[in-house]
Amino acid sequence: MKSTYSIISFLSVLLCSSAFATEKAQQQYPTEYKEWQQTLTQSENEDMLEKYPATVILWAGSGFSKDYNSPRGHQFAVTDAARTLRTGVAPKDGKMGKSASCWTCKTPQAWQTMNMKGEEGFAAMNFTDIGPYVNQVVHCDDCHKSGSDELALPRPHAQNAMKKVKLPFEKQPHYMQSSQTCGQCHVTYYFQPEAENKVNIPWIFGSTADLIEKYYDTRRFYEWIHPISQVPMLKARHPEFEHWSRSSHAKHEVGCVDCHMPIVKDEQGNKHHSHQVGSASANFDTTCKACHSNKEYRLKLLEENTQWVETTRKRLEDSLVKAHYEAQAAWKAGASVHQMNEAIMAIRHSQWRWDFITASHGAAAHNPDEAKQVLNIAVQQVSVARSLLAKILKDFKVETVNYPDYSSKAKAQQAIGLDIDSLTKEKRDYIEQVINKEWQPVANIQAGH
Ligand code: HEC
Ligand code: HEC
Ligand code: HEC
Ligand code: HEC
Repeated sequence: MKSTYSIISFLSVLLCSSAFATEKAQQQYPTEYKEWQQTLTQSENEDMLEKYPATVILWAGSGFSKDYNSPRGHQFAVTDAARTLRTGVAPKDGKMGKSASCWTCKTPQAWQTMNMKGEEGFAAMNFTDIGPYVNQVVHCDDCHKSGSDELALPRPHAQNAMKKVKLPFEKQPHYMQSSQTCGQCHVTYYFQPEAENKVNIPWIFGSTADLIEKYYDTRRFYEWIHPISQVPMLKARHPEFEHWSRSSHAKHEVGCVDCHMPIVKDEQGNKHHSHQVGSASANFDTTCKACHSNKEYRLKLLEENTQWVETTRKRLEDSLVKAHYEAQAAWKAGASVHQMNEAIMAIRHSQWRWDFITASHGAAAHNPDEAKQVLNIAVQQVSVARSLLAKILKDFKVETVNYPDYSSKAKAQQAIGLDIDSLTKEKRDYIEQVINKEWQPVANIQAGH
């Protein structure tokens, strides 16, 4: 309780100093400040569970089956984290709710608090206890030394991770430093259970799908047990940095900034990097065109790669759903852990690879070769799982397996027994009674303003 009190009082002081830092940035760099604010206009996002209803089944038992949208402009980061069903409501009776770690990639106040009070001290707090004090969203200070345009990497987990893959920030060339600023957040991570759920980037062996899996397997780590198949599951989260770091663009020193922060002119005609971080291909003439003159050809390549990933992932999702239900049928028929082990691990490994590619928004653009390679292995792994399961089911004389209806998000949520109506109502009440009234404006941004 003592540490909770000291963190809350630190956050109260931080409220004033961060409001001051924002005002200073506005005066010092009005152009970048205005562009930074303009990510407010990128208010469109897509309900990914509606788009890919099979994923509700694949994530059954995890928060992702409740609510999951595609990303939108940086200005929405705090609002969206506050409002998603995944972060829930305040826990009852002093119990532990969602970790404050969920704030790590939304606001500089997260790492500022970690610097003062320790990473574990911060992570041990409740997400909802920190909520009222967050008044900054993906900010100048997240990528720059405060009050300057010099690049910085303030998040401790990112500094450590870059050292693990032998890319220490201080020793990197400019294109890598600027890409690492993005890679603080656009990177896969997990909450470390033995360290109060602090954020950790699992790169001890390296940052490929294989080497991260090796790390998790060696530690016998899982995020949750799948309630249908009993598979100990892994979850990938937006590994944009990982894919990019091995791409042909990275080999030619083309960084995130070249495609997402194009060079533009301000009112006086001075060239600078647009701080309205946003779509790359929609701005072809200011991004890609600096290096690719043949627009039609490059966009066609991009479209073909995107289509390949789209078709393959959907096929894979269907097979994975079936594999989870075939495993359930095998358990029900009386299969032993010994009989099931190999099939269960093949489902774990296949779904991990599927997630490693699809949880990265833009894998088809960032590293099409890797996307294809990893998804092809995932397809092989799930088919191994299903043939092992078919054999077990045959031995137990099970002739039919009932697969669920996952033709829509609602049907899939019903199939896994999720009471989405109560969850939605509980969250709506919390938003109306607490977030709208007690949290800062940055948690209450309405689209279109
Ligand atoms: C997500 C990371 C990020 C955020 C947030 C960010 N910047 Fe930057 N900024 C960069 C990068 C990267 C560069 C360098 C681009 C290059 O040279 O490759 C840069 C460059 C600059 C420059 C040099 C001139 C130019 O625009 O190229 C100024 C000034 C600047 N930023 C100010 C700001 C201010 C003020 C804010 C907050 C309102 C801010 N930045 C927010 C990443 C960021
Ligand atoms: C402090 C964490 C953080 C940093 C640093 C960061 N991002 Fe983001 N980024 C996010 C979050 C969170 C979202 C999703 C916001 C939402 O949907 O509410 C996002 C969204 C985006 C989007 C989607 C925008 C849209 O309109 O659809 C792009 C593109 C993006 N980031 C690129 C970058 C690039 C490039 C950099 C580095 C220059 C960067 N980000 C740095 C956290 C970060
Ligand atoms: C060669 C250009 C290029 C580079 C380099 C690049 N990207 Fe992208 N990125 C794209 C394209 C193309 C897309 C597909 C959507 C679009 O056109 O913006 C995309 C998509 C994204 C998205 C999803 C946007 C959304 O709304 O769904 C994010 C986030 C993102 N990139 C972040 C990054 C980060 C972080 C890096 C560096 C580690 C990076 N990108 C490097 C071109 C690039
Ligand atoms: C700063 C220079 C630069 C920028 C900006 C750039 N590229 Fe590239 N791109 C390269 C280089 C260099 C290669 C590797 C050689 C080649 O294939 O031509 C490459 C390769 C590619 C490839 C083939 C390899 C692969 O990864 O599939 C595609 C497709 C591509 N770029 C699309 C884009 C798109 C789309 C954009 C804008 C969103 C973009 N590039 C922005 C320099 C750049």
